[in-house]
Amino acid sequence: MSHFINNNFEDVLINRHSVRHFDPKVKISRDELQTMISEAITAPSACNLQPWRFVIVDTVEGKEKLASFFMKFNKPQLETSSAIVFVFGDTQAYKSYRDLWNKAYEDGRITAEKRDEVLKTFLPLYEAASYEGLIHDAKTNSSLAAMQFMLVARGHGYETNAIQGYNAKVAAETLGLNPERYVPNMAIAIGKPDPNNLPSEIKSTRYTTEDVCQFL
Ligand SMILES: Cc1cc2nc3c(=O)[nH]c(=O)nc-3n(C[C@H](O)[C@H](O)[C@H](O)COP(=O)(O)O)c2cc1C
Repeated sequence: MSHFINNNFEDVLINRHSVRHFDPKVKISRDELQTMISEAITAPSACNLQPWRFVIVDTVEGKEKLASFFMKFNKPQLETSSAIVFVFGDTQAYKSYRDLWNKAYEDGRITAEKRDEVLKTFLPLYEAASYEGLIHDAKTNSSLAAMQFMLVARGHGYETNAIQGYNAKVAAETLGLNPERYVPNMAIAIGKPDPNNLPSEIKSTRYTTEDVCQFL
């Protein structure tokens, strides 16, 4: 049985919009936050590398750290959200790639041949990649998990706001991560909308399909 309180895909997808003023009284349990992350990381990733890392900030002290490098216009989300989930890309995810496939083999899900073939095909690509290439890969793939998290949040009855308005240079270090390894992608504020400060009913405009798409 599904535990999604909103399992209407059309509503989850089409009626998502950024919420920036949350009800500060709403708390989300760490259990539920972890469940939402576990659902978000069903996201696909190149070579199944899963180069993402989440720092979940749900304490006053943690939010003070975020406030030290967030831009002023993002203070309302910081102050009122139930939590901020900071999504990082992991440029060294490939270092545990061997363990991942070994585990799949040990669990009996793949043969030793399959494991060795995957490792032989993909691992050298990452071992030879430039740092810029690893950053690109980490950001692309962690974005997919981030988007899934925003939709999963709606499935759980919450709203979100993706945030990149912060000083990216200090993000990892301030949150206790190795800045060489972890590259900030985006933070996601999550909570229930403030009933006294609801976003306008007017949808943010989008370009038309014709503007952004062509067939070949
Ligand atoms: C990667 C990313 C970064 C964003 N950064 C911010 C931000 O720093 N502050 C903010 O208020 N909104 C931010 N947004 C939200 C966008 O402004 C918003 O998604 C866009 O205007 C479309 O509106 P909608 O989310 O309501 O559909 C960001 C969105 C994305 C995807």
